[in-house]
Order: sequence, then structure tokens, then C-alpha cells
Amino acid sequence: MEHYIVKGGTHLCGEVEIAGAKNAALAILAAAILTDEPVTIENVPDVSDIRVLAQAIESIGARVEHPGRHVYRIDGAGVHDLPVDNELIRKIRGSYYMIGALLGRYKHAEVALPGGCTIGLRPIDQHIKGFKALGAAVTFKPPGRVEATAKNLRGTHIYMDMVSVGATINVMLAACLAKGITVIENAAKEPHVVDLANFLNSMGARIKGAGTDVVRINGVERLHGTEYAIIPDQIEAGTFMFAAAATHGDVTVTNIIPKHMESISAKLKEIGCDVEESDDAIRVVATHRLMPNNVKTLPYPGFPTDMQPQATVLLGLSSGTSIVTEGIFESRFKYVDELTRMGARITVEGKTAIIDGVASYFGASLKAPDLRAGAALVIAALAADGISEIYDIHYIERGYEDFPEKLRGLGGEIVKVSTPEEGEQAVRRMQMSIVGGTGMTERGTA
Ligand code: EPU
Repeated sequence: MEHYIVKGGTHLCGEVEIAGAKNAALAILAAAILTDEPVTIENVPDVSDIRVLAQAIESIGARVEHPGRHVYRIDGAGVHDLPVDNELIRKIRGSYYMIGALLGRYKHAEVALPGGCTIGLRPIDQHIKGFKALGAAVTFKPPGRVEATAKNLRGTHIYMDMVSVGATINVMLAACLAKGITVIENAAKEPHVVDLANFLNSMGARIKGAGTDVVRINGVERLHGTEYAIIPDQIEAGTFMFAAAATHGDVTVTNIIPKHMESISAKLKEIGCDVEESDDAIRVVATHRLMPNNVKTLPYPGFPTDMQPQATVLLGLSSGTSIVTEGIFESRFKYVDELTRMGARITVEGKTAIIDGVASYFGASLKAPDLRAGAALVIAALAADGISEIYDIHYIERGYEDFPEKLRGLGGEIVKVSTPEEGEQAVRRMQMSIVGGTGMTERGTA
């Protein structure tokens, strides 16, 4: 029953520190078992997907210590190749990195098929193609497990049929202990691919070209322990930048790498925001009505698919017609029905959303359909007139650390409640501070 209660209408203002990148941390935690020596990983975000992966790594015999909120120490010496499978691991996407890491280190992996957000079919054929090209036999075992086995892995040339973050990372994991050179063409260039390569290189791997579309991995005999800090989360930063714009606020995101934010900063400028960059921070100020724009999601350095719902929410408040096209996943507009219930005017045709901007949204009772869409609905609620309730927040907690707390630090009125009674009390408190009613729709409980 945990849910958020949000009162909209406050301009978010102030500074917010961005956590480590979830999607880099998932790959790097899995990569830690490629060595028998201890590995210390810092700046790991405290989010549920990471906790689940850490538990899975522990369940196969690795020693996992968590000496600080954002620090993990992993010692893979005790790993044995038991199947990686529990109820939780099936829910997270990052579980598939255990296939590449176990195959690379032990030449055998048996892992439950990955879950993750329901944003399309999400096949793993390119991962399998890569493992097979390296010399592994791959079989699917009921109920929903993948087994990959090899006598030896040997370097090879792989051309990815589409740009895939997961497949690029998984092949890198399997190939760094293979014999000879592996070349991945049409590789993903996302910052977390580069971060994984830097991490593996700090363990003694020889990887070149990460961040370009050709990654070259020179296999080595063994990897050693290391200490490493994860890069900041591009999508968490982007989410706060868009929240600033939607609420006509003035927010500085700190502890970021501005270079990673270029497509997001550029879009905000086109929509009419002031965006100021410094070495490790970006300030977004929105004073005027937002202008309409078109967005197409693309692999990095294009506009990220993980910012698509936030972009739709923002453009829904602009002064004209905008088009948002999803270029990565086949179904990532499930949240539009919820947004429509807040007064948004959006039509979805296939992979395209046609958005007619409205002056404001109104509060509603909403359900987060997935991680990023959930965060986008929180932004909509913060920008709306009245009070909203947002359910299924476990999706949001998969990838955003202290989301309500950070928003409150910027002046946002959002609380997390655990019971219907707590929810009613929070709604009443917020209602008392609104002159002229709640703005809730019929699904609201107030
Ligand atoms: N694809 C295939 N076959 C494959 C692999 C991918 O057809 O073997 C397709 C996918 O269905 C999709 C496209 O290729 O249409 C790109 O998928 P990709 O493999 O790049 O995505 P992913 O590895 O499953 C990661 C992130 C996602 C993020 C995407 C795109 C993790 C754990 N997940 O997913 O993050 O949206 O890359 O950048 O790193 C999120 O954090 O909310 C999230 C969904």
C-alpha cells in the first residue's frame, strides 16, 4: 500500500546531489566476480535493483559486504556455479549480466531469464549471438533459465544487429578472459558502457574503444582486485532537470558529468529554459511558458529513451503541438493514459505521441506503470493543480534513491505513506493548505 501523496504547484528550487548510475552499477557489481580478489565499489546508488543483484551475487557464494550506504566490497573467491535463480532476480534486467560474468570466469552460467520494466518484448538474441560467437553453447531450460557453457572462450568478431547496451556489456564481460581478441561492431556508446570498460581495465583487462561503436577486447589470463567509483546517474540528473522545467523552478543538479547530459540540456534550451553548465553541475531555470518541440529517442549520444516519459510530461505543458517518437523500445507509452487523466491532451499512434500542450495538469490518483514513467508521473503531479496519489512506487524505487526526500529538499510537497490512514491524513493536511478544493479526480480517495 506504500504510495506517494503529492501536492502540486510549488516551483522546485535549490540544489540536488545526484547518485551513482544504476545501470553502470548493475554491470560493475556483476563484473566484480570476474576475479577471486576483493573489489571495492563506491558511489553505488541505494536502490532496490542493486540490492537484488547484490543478494544474487551473494547467493552463489561470493562474499558481499556493504560497509557504507554507497559502498560494496565483493570477494568472488567463494563463487560456485549454482544456478542464479530466485524470485527477485527474475524481476530485474541486470540479472543477465551474471550470464556474461559467470561464463567469462567459470565457462558456465545458468541464470533465470531477466525481467525489468515492461516496455516491450526485450529479447536477448544479440547477447546469445555474442556468447555463441565466443564459443559457448547456449540453451534455454524450463522454467525460463538460460544456460551457457564453453570449454574455452576464444576471441571473435561480432557485428551487433542493433545497438544494445545489454548485449555490448554482456559480451565485454564474457570476452575479457577469452583467448585472443574480440571486436564488437555497432557497439552501444552509453556512458555506462565506458564506465564498465574503465572498471574492467582497472582490474587488468585490456579494452579499447568503449564509447565508440567499435570495442576491442584483448583477452587476458586473469583479472585482479580494484577500487572504483561509479559515474553519476545521467537519467536521475535529467529527471531532476525536467522536474525543474515542469515546475517553473530553478534547480542545480550537482555531482554530475555535464558531457553526459548534452542531449538533455540541448532539449531544455530548445524548449525555452536557461541551462548553465559548470564543471560538475548544471543549473536549469524556467521562467517562461515552455515551447513545443519534437523529441526522438536514440542510442547515446541521442536523446535517451529513459527520459522519454519525462519529455512527454514536459511538452504536455508547452504552448503548442509536440511530437515524441520512441526509437528504442516498442511500447513505452503506457503512462499516457494516466497523464490524460490529469488533463494532458496526447494521442499515441504506434511509437509516436502527438501532444497538444495544456496550461496545467490537475491532481489525480495514478499508478506508476514502470520506473521512468513513474518518475515522470511524479513530475506531472508536482506541476499539477491539486493533490495526486501515486501507487506502485516500487517501480520508482528500483532506480531513484531517496526520490521524495530529494524533491522535498527542493521544496516539493511529496510524502511517502504506508497505509490508507496515513494517506488520508497526508491528503487532509495538504488540502488544508489549498484554497478552493483539492483538484482531485474521481479516482482520488480524499
Ligand atoms: N534488443 C534486441 N535484442 C537483444 C538486445 C536488445 O532486440 O538481444 C532490442 C531491445 O528490445 C530494444 C533495443 O534493442 O528495443 C535496445 O535494448 P538494449 O539492449 O539497449 O536495452 P537493455 O540493455 O535491455 C538498458 C537499460 C535500460 C535502457 C536501455 C536503453 C539496464 C539494466 N537497462 O536496457 O534502462 O532503457 O538500456 O538505453 O542497463 C531503465 O533504467 O529504466 C531502463 C529501462
